[in-house]
Amino acid sequence: MSITPEIEKRLSLLQEKYEAMGQDMVSYLDGLLHADFLTYWDYIHLDTLLSLQSPKTPFPDEEIFIMYHQITELYFKLVLHECKQIAEKQPLNAEFFTARIKRINSYFEALIKSFDIMVDGMEKEQFLQFRMSLLPASGFQSGQYRMIEIYSTDFINLVAKDKREELATAPIEDQFEFIYWKFGATELSTGKKTLTLKQFEKKYHKTFIELAKATAQHNFNALLQLMRYEGQSTAALENELRQLDVNVNVNWPRVHYKSAHRYLERKPEEIKATGGTNWQKYLPPRFQKRIFFPSLWTAEEEENWGKSWVESVLRS
Ligand code: HEM
Repeated sequence: MSITPEIEKRLSLLQEKYEAMGQDMVSYLDGLLHADFLTYWDYIHLDTLLSLQSPKTPFPDEEIFIMYHQITELYFKLVLHECKQIAEKQPLNAEFFTARIKRINSYFEALIKSFDIMVDGMEKEQFLQFRMSLLPASGFQSGQYRMIEIYSTDFINLVAKDKREELATAPIEDQFEFIYWKFGATELSTGKKTLTLKQFEKKYHKTFIELAKATAQHNFNALLQLMRYEGQSTAALENELRQLDVNVNVNWPRVHYKSAHRYLERKPEEIKATGGTNWQKYLPPRFQKRIFFPSLWTAEEEENWGKSWVESVLRS
């Protein structure tokens, strides 16, 4: 075999690379000689991935429930991957920011479109039985979902809406006491924190506070304000951010609520949620009015946040 100029060039580049680190190139070439070729299944850890479904009951539809939650969490991980890139980019310009928000929107749109799997894809009778073996676990405890919210907006916008004004300049720790989700995780009978919430706080409290502090100047809403202040052109960015607000704070909650309604609604009284919450009063977006980018909406749009669809779901 002849050593072509291309091979020679690669060898000298490799030599430079290893020398710079005080390493012997020949030993690394020996390593290459013995190394196996990469396979698809090893590269994506397929066997591990396919071994992560462990139903708690013999009902076949429980596996659908587990896998769809796992799929959702992987999408949330994709979203957070983009969030980190935006928060860490130096210097950040509107073009990069817009392109990354567009990706996040496409991830959420995939989830919104596929949520029918959770609405029509399981037998209600199976669901109502296997869910009792999952108590008190709930999707409510998705830490990634809350981290996406923290990356998206100023922490104060995640505080219960009647406390936002009063706590506007309070430290993050004080704002956290009134974070909106606590009000969804109150036991109907006693008014006390549910076990679902207590466990969730024990695991994530510190992480959420630290992330909120770290993103105080780098969350999407703060970055939007900064770009406007710098006089950057933000029209395309604003469109994507409005879409993000609708995707995360109206459309995903809407399709999610549809499944709660389908499985837990039973006249005259609804079935208790696994997290023990007052889900009817909590899940519909019109009650919480979570809005990441208040400056992008008119007072009327805020007033009517999430209203039209809720009525259509309730009518169906
Ligand atoms: C049959 C399907 C589902 C039903 C019936 C359902 C029901 C509920 C209910 C009743 C709650 C309120 C908290 C509680 O009491 O547990 C809740 C919260 C939540 N669930 Fe689901 N859920 C379903 C599927 C999913 C899926 C696939 C995910 C994806 C991770 C998910 C993520 C969440 C999140 C993030 C919350 C908190 C929402 C918020 O705070 O506004 N759920 N769910």
